[in-house]
Amino acid sequence: MTSLSNSAAAIEFQENLLSDSQARLSKLLPFISHSFLDSIKKGDWARWRQRLEKLTCHQPSRIKIGDRIEIGQSNDLSKAEKNILEEQLREFIPWRKGPFNLFGIEIDTEWRCDMKWSRLEHMIAPLEGRRVLDVGSGNGYFSLRMVSAGADLVVGLEPHIPYYAQFCALQRFIPGIPAVLLPITLELIPRPLPRFDTVFSMGVIYHQRSPIDHLLQLKDCLCSGGQLVLETLVVDGPIGYSLVPRDCYARMSNVWFIPSLSSIAQWLDRCGFINVKVISESTTEMTEQRSTAWMPYKSLDSALLATNPNQTVEGHPSPKRAILLADKA
Ligand SMILES: C[S@@+](CC[C@H](N)C(=O)[O-])C[C@H]1O[C@@H](n2cnc3c(N)ncnc32)[C@H](O)[C@@H]1O
Repeated sequence: MTSLSNSAAAIEFQENLLSDSQARLSKLLPFISHSFLDSIKKGDWARWRQRLEKLTCHQPSRIKIGDRIEIGQSNDLSKAEKNILEEQLREFIPWRKGPFNLFGIEIDTEWRCDMKWSRLEHMIAPLEGRRVLDVGSGNGYFSLRMVSAGADLVVGLEPHIPYYAQFCALQRFIPGIPAVLLPITLELIPRPLPRFDTVFSMGVIYHQRSPIDHLLQLKDCLCSGGQLVLETLVVDGPIGYSLVPRDCYARMSNVWFIPSLSSIAQWLDRCGFINVKVISESTTEMTEQRSTAWMPYKSLDSALLATNPNQTVEGHPSPKRAILLADKA
């Protein structure tokens, strides 16, 4: 099977998932159409497409979605095939979210995303049989964990084209998985679209210039009684307080509001969510986020002061994160 025919088959499979009479998500179909994908001009999509087209397609003898997502086993491929695949996968560097193992090739990613997943997996409403929206899905690591937790369908939204391309690469080897990733922002989703039982927004809200609008749009995607899983950076401070960095936060130039825990709870309350609760608070350590061979650029260690790891290089408090749950009435 050539990678191109595989990709055509994958699109057809995704069309079927979205147009299913239960899912009733046909409003999203334009975002997986060939004409939409052909129209993407940003993020060097044309180059990623070429890389995807030359990616060799192999049939995995086994798929194991656990803390490490394993697709295929080492002895599924000859040594030569494995070398070629490894070289092709390295073209998708930087791999930030994972870990993955493809046919024995260990992709040691910047983030140990299994650590975040373990903080929430037993606290959220069980995903069995649910339709899930994963906003800011990156390369789909969490979307695949959601499928493995029993979701009927996961729709991921990821506007950053290199991460979207990584998902397309992974999908080559697991075309029948009930996960669809769209290369768009949440803002492009037709409103309202209250078709999802669980909506995840993890690591996204502090990148928004208008966090309240983000929460309201997340709510518009939830069906009545559905659950929001919101993960964010937080800072210490009273209710009403948010840190608005002057320019960068931990070397990131696109951070707008980092709320205190009580502020984010209040935002959710103001947006009409009910049953708001905090299920996790953690400090990000270098065991969870670090440079690796598959993400060889700067990471958390260079974002913190060498003399005081409790402060970022800009003098802000170092990253603390929280996970909150909230329901739509
Ligand atoms: C910090 S990463 C978090 C990835 C993953 N959810 C996690 O928790 O590790 C934030 C991601 O959200 C995406 N993003 C930012 N704004 C978005 C928006 N308005 N709609 C959808 N995705 C967005 C970014 O491209 C980025 O990949």
